[in-house]
Amino acid sequence: MVEKLDTDIYFTPREAAKRLNLSLSTIKNYIYANKLKTLKTPGGHHRISKNELLAAMGEKAGLSPKIESPCVSMENYCAALVNVFKLLGPHGNSFIIHSRNVAEISHKLSKALGFKEEDVLYAKMAGLVHDIGHVAIDRRTLAKQEPLTLQEYELIKLHPSKGGELLNSVKDLKDIAIIVAQHHERMDGTGYPKGISEKDIKKIARVISIAEAYDAMVSEYSYKKSMPKEEAISELAQNKGLQFDGDMVEVFIQLI
Ligand SMILES: [Fe+2]
Repeated sequence: MVEKLDTDIYFTPREAAKRLNLSLSTIKNYIYANKLKTLKTPGGHHRISKNELLAAMGEKAGLSPKIESPCVSMENYCAALVNVFKLLGPHGNSFIIHSRNVAEISHKLSKALGFKEEDVLYAKMAGLVHDIGHVAIDRRTLAKQEPLTLQEYELIKLHPSKGGELLNSVKDLKDIAIIVAQHHERMDGTGYPKGISEKDIKKIARVISIAEAYDAMVSEYSYKKSMPKEEAISELAQNKGLQFDGDMVEVFIQLI
């Protein structure tokens, strides 16, 4: 028990939750599990010292955080998952580069759109794994240099659903699964797999759609040449409200 607490040195659990960007119930769980030491006020309320909190945040030199945000773990999962493309051989490298590019563009665009911090992080993670469903598609079809047959194209079109199914099987990645499953939906409802439109498409999936299309156009991959930036921008602009969210395209064009 302590007689008097200096509010500059001690945090309430609510203040600590805010500082660590965690929920209050998570902080309470850490306290009850003795992972976060507290002092008690005469009234029996928990108070967390600033030093304890800083240590938990890993701000002391050389210490890694004792408490890791669930989102940090999810980001690590996603970064690791992308390496599964290496199984596709030389062609897999293009997927890895594309995935990282889409993650970076989605991160920047969602930030510029004013998304809350959590959604910006989700956009980055979903961007990283948006094409993961390709691992379920026949390798020869993926590596084919010649134009695809209609049947082969239908196979490729399975990748958003396959990716969604894969991610949905991991508890912490369920929120990303729905975004991945929707990244080839179009604003006019002619996309796939479900043909949903407008606001029925998650806003982060609309971000990924722009990021994916742009990177696919401007980057040079083993299977295609790059397109000049101006042409790619014009392609995005022409498809405002058709393939892409028009307001988001406007912001994107200002951003790049
Ligand atoms: Fe895709």
